[in-house]
Amino acid sequence: MSVYLWLLLISIGVVSEERNFKFIIDRLTVMHWEPEIIEELNYSMIQLNNRSYVSGNLQLKRDIDKIVVNTTLDFWNMDNKKTRLYKLQTDACIFLANIHKNRLLNIFAKSFDKHTAGQLKCPLKGKFNYTLNNWYLDEMDFPAYLPAGTFQTNTEILVEKKKTIYVMVRGRLLF
Ligand SMILES: *[C@@H]1O[C@H](CO)[C@@H](O)[C@H](O)[C@H]1NC(C)=O
Ligand SMILES: *[C@@H]1O[C@H](CO)[C@@H](O)[C@H](O)[C@H]1NC(C)=O
Ligand SMILES: *[C@@H]1O[C@H](CO)[C@@H](O)[C@H](O)[C@H]1NC(C)=O
Ligand SMILES: *[C@@H]1O[C@H](CO)[C@@H](O)[C@H](O)[C@H]1NC(C)=O
Repeated sequence: MSVYLWLLLISIGVVSEERNFKFIIDRLTVMHWEPEIIEELNYSMIQLNNRSYVSGNLQLKRDIDKIVVNTTLDFWNMDNKKTRLYKLQTDACIFLANIHKNRLLNIFAKSFDKHTAGQLKCPLKGKFNYTLNNWYLDEMDFPAYLPAGTFQTNTEILVEKKKTIYVMVRGRLLF
């Protein structure tokens, strides 16, 4: 059997295979500053059957279309060696319109979309209640084999150049 055919068969097997890990979020911190932009922002997280579910809602005082997102994702392996998986500054409106083009970010966006049903596009509407219900990281959206370790994302959301929201997520892969 050719090596290529063999690899193809393995990769098909990998696609449908059960994942042997779960994502656990240990810490979620959300802070916000601009009361003339944010009407209401609430969030909560529950742990159930080795899965972390996040819910929240965001209501803005008025329409906004100038949003810059600064985000980093770092990973620490079992030897505590840190790898920066990404660091990017992005225009959120362009990002939301092109989200499907980046594979890594698409993994997050896809899970988000299941619950927010395509509401996330610019301009973000004032007086609209953006809600997230029991969002979680679905292992099936990730490769079958991931290394053990912990991860952390730090995200700063700047609205009209003002630092408005900060989100920190720290979690780990549970095998
Ligand atoms: C939601 O957040 C607002 C402030 O942004 C606060 O006044 C309100 O009590 C919160 N509601 C809940 C259910 O936590
Ligand atoms: C959670 O994960 C631990 C460790 O992998 C396992 O022993 C336990 O049975 C799991 N609990 C549930 C409810 O899946
Ligand atoms: C956002 O990221 C850019 C590029 O890394 C950086 O120059 C800028 O200072 C960051 N903005 C804030 C408010 O941290
Ligand atoms: C927005 O929706 C959430 C979740 O359903 C709810 O708890 C919250 O009170 C709503 N906020 C407003 C301002 O209607």
